[in-house]
Amino acid sequence: MALIPDPLDAPGLRWGFLGPGWIAGIVAECLRTATRQRLVAVGSRSAERAQAFAQRYDVPFAGTYEAVLDKPDVDVVYIATTNNTHAELATQALDAGKPVLLEKTITLDAAQAHSLASLAVAKGIFFMEAMWTRFLPHMVELRHRLSSGQLGELRYAHVDSGYRDPYDPASRIFSRSLGGGALLDRGIYPVSFIVDLFGMPSSITARSIFTDTGVDAHTTALLSYPNAHATAVASINVITPQDVYIGGTDMLVRLAHEWWAPTRLEFQREGRERDVWEHPTRARGYEYELAEVARCVAEGRTESPTLPVSQSVGIMEILDEIRGQCGITFDHQHPLGSP
Ligand SMILES: NC(=O)c1ccc[n+]([C@@H]2O[C@H](COP(=O)([O-])OP(=O)(O)OC[C@H]3O[C@@H](n4cnc5c(N)ncnc54)[C@H](OP(=O)(O)O)[C@@H]3O)[C@@H](O)[C@H]2O)c1
Repeated sequence: MALIPDPLDAPGLRWGFLGPGWIAGIVAECLRTATRQRLVAVGSRSAERAQAFAQRYDVPFAGTYEAVLDKPDVDVVYIATTNNTHAELATQALDAGKPVLLEKTITLDAAQAHSLASLAVAKGIFFMEAMWTRFLPHMVELRHRLSSGQLGELRYAHVDSGYRDPYDPASRIFSRSLGGGALLDRGIYPVSFIVDLFGMPSSITARSIFTDTGVDAHTTALLSYPNAHATAVASINVITPQDVYIGGTDMLVRLAHEWWAPTRLEFQREGRERDVWEHPTRARGYEYELAEVARCVAEGRTESPTLPVSQSVGIMEILDEIRGQCGITFDHQHPLGSP
């Protein structure tokens, strides 16, 4: 059994959130209810949105992005805006000397990701992709069982992230200019999970189907390794099982629906009883990534050992390769225009 760090044990930092949208609210709730972290500032392009969020989550300061980055009492910044703005906002935050937790996908492409990674290294400032699922208890247990040899050698995985979004050409999911589409919104989870367990693939084969707005509605990628195959499926127009099996030479592992945040794992050796592992979370699970950031920043680290920056950049390279094969492109406009 792996040792699962308790998010309440991480040192309390003072957080500034940029982009008071849907996911920022969920993360704020986890922060308040399941960590010792403090949310001290929120920034938005709109004063009303910043104020409304501050009121709802009891945040003492609401202002512009720049005002949050200027605040000396902000120890770390969480950027939760749409994908098209990530490169610019993270650059501003790092230039302001703030450690950064940046929502997925960290950028629109690998070139932007390389630039951000270089900037963080040059400045010696902590930078991490908000791939929250990496830090959940089941992943700690899974990596422990894999590294201790219990699963044998991994040969197979089929990992899907598909659910329907109501068709809305104005929403970020359906927008080419906001970096929408199935691959960047959903496919990043299967790809990141596969890279975590299998490493970088030796080759990739991918196909997409598109919406009328030009984003990918459905993308399937085969990530090939010398002795293993893993498929990543992403969809915004169909529900997929979200029930994942991983095949090792000695064991089959099941992560039941929703596989990215299960509280239960099933380990099955041929001809033996199933071994069930369970670990409930206190809140929705984002508390684990917040605690990871707090621990790393307090220890003076520039990256998380569980999700190094080079791996996030490598994942963007995989997404670039898939996009190239499938013809997935974005409209690059000036991202931080008025609301
Ligand atoms: N970790 C997870 O589980 C998870 C889940 C969902 C989404 N995400 C990621 O989190 C990010 C935000 O997703 P969300 O669903 O929370 O988005 P959202 O609610 O639609 O928007 C979040 C914020 O982005 C800014 N924004 C919206 N439209 C914009 C535009 N046209 N141009 C520039 N900025 C714009 C707004 O900030 P202002 O108020 O400052 O304008 C808004 O508050 C995305 O990168 C997404 O991939 C992560």
